[in-house]
Amino acid sequence: MGKQMHLNLFVHSRGHHEASWRHPKSSPKALTDISYLTEAAQTAELGLFDSIFLADTLVVNDDVAQAPRTWLEPISTLGALAMATKKIGLIATASTTYMEPFNLARQFASLDHVSAGRIGWNIVTTWSVPAANNFGANDQISHADRYLRAEEYVNSIKELWDSWSDDAIVDNRTGGLYAKVEGIRPIDHTGDYYQVAGPLNVPRCPQGRPVLVQAGSSEAGREFAARHAEAVFTAHLEMATALDFYKDLKSRAKDQRRDAESIIILPGFSPIIAGTEEEAKKIAKELNELTDVEVGRKRLMGRFGGYDFSHLPLDRPLTPDDFPDPSTVQAARSRAEVIVGMVTRESPTLRQLLAKLAGARGHFIFAGTPEQVADELELWFKSGVADGFNLMPPIIPWMLEVFVGEVVPLLQQRGLFREEYKGSMLRDHYGLERPSVKLS
Ligand SMILES: Cc1cc2nc3c(=O)[nH]c(=O)nc-3n(C[C@H](O)[C@H](O)[C@H](O)COP(=O)(O)O)c2cc1C
Repeated sequence: MGKQMHLNLFVHSRGHHEASWRHPKSSPKALTDISYLTEAAQTAELGLFDSIFLADTLVVNDDVAQAPRTWLEPISTLGALAMATKKIGLIATASTTYMEPFNLARQFASLDHVSAGRIGWNIVTTWSVPAANNFGANDQISHADRYLRAEEYVNSIKELWDSWSDDAIVDNRTGGLYAKVEGIRPIDHTGDYYQVAGPLNVPRCPQGRPVLVQAGSSEAGREFAARHAEAVFTAHLEMATALDFYKDLKSRAKDQRRDAESIIILPGFSPIIAGTEEEAKKIAKELNELTDVEVGRKRLMGRFGGYDFSHLPLDRPLTPDDFPDPSTVQAARSRAEVIVGMVTRESPTLRQLLAKLAGARGHFIFAGTPEQVADELELWFKSGVADGFNLMPPIIPWMLEVFVGEVVPLLQQRGLFREEYKGSMLRDHYGLERPSVKLS
């Protein structure tokens, strides 16, 4: 059998389209109702997805009046999802900027035990500027400093996860030996930002280390991913830039002496699926008619770190001069690159740009029949653009259910997707090795 694709479900709001929450076919449940998430995870598990992913931003956004971007804290939520599912991998976002490494290492290691080895950590440095105000800072730490800090942070977390050998717990009641002390060691980490003595107070977890996921695609983000990431989420509006990204990141991983297979790349894909292409386009139009351009404008300003776009008219073609140089953006730098790249190529008006971003915030959007969706996924996969996809249903649960019911079987018939789970851990699904640990 040939190589098969990986599928991750990204759950966000009532779907990734900005107006999904207003659409009559999105979930009627509150976004704080855990059953909304457990049901989505169970549907994805029925579709044999590798994993489900929850994002996080550490802030209430200022567009909350017209955009339900409120959610449950992802790490706690994974505990509930672990109890409601059996096989699917569970990935939560957590920031390297706003929590002590010891806390996070402990939470993720505990969750890996709770879920019997299904946990992944989406490592973010937090680009949202107002988030800083929630953690005692007046301003966001610079892009470069965030990645420097992240480097030390992740290294100390790996050391903490490795501070127990696999066989340290003996639990021998008759002999009276609970743990071999030679299998547990302090880490004595002293760096520029953190001091951590260790060892972790949680024994080594089923996967050795939870899977490391990353989603920053700037220069610093790619270098970071090449060193640490095992799965990478990335946003592209078209196949050509996704292809460049794929080749670039695999080559950077090789430069780090890593096997290219040890890092899987999952571009975002947001399909509107219907019985005919016309019908799918009609749903897309319906959704776009529910969007509010001023919500889109606020979001755009946030992505560019608060840059003021309030003066831009809605219906004049944009040029790159309307935007700051993406390399100076301290917030979501690679998304700024995606947006300015699209403006350079296509000169959309602000209204057109915002309509495109409303679809899935700069990820690839597609409207068509199940066959057309399967064809598009196959094309990307076989062209060496992706190891799989980060499925971002525009409306949840509707489009997720259609994808699982109608696209997954097509992918299976074509030999492109699994017909059953072969292993029980996220590392098994992603085809990743379990890291070994040697304690002297
Ligand atoms: C699919 C996807 C999911 C992301 N999820 C989060 C998230 O939950 N929280 C967050 O702060 N950033 C998130 N990001 C943003 C990136 O992690 C990163 O912070 C952003 O791209 C800026 O980093 P860069 O300048 O290196 O690109 C996500 C990006 C992508 C592509």
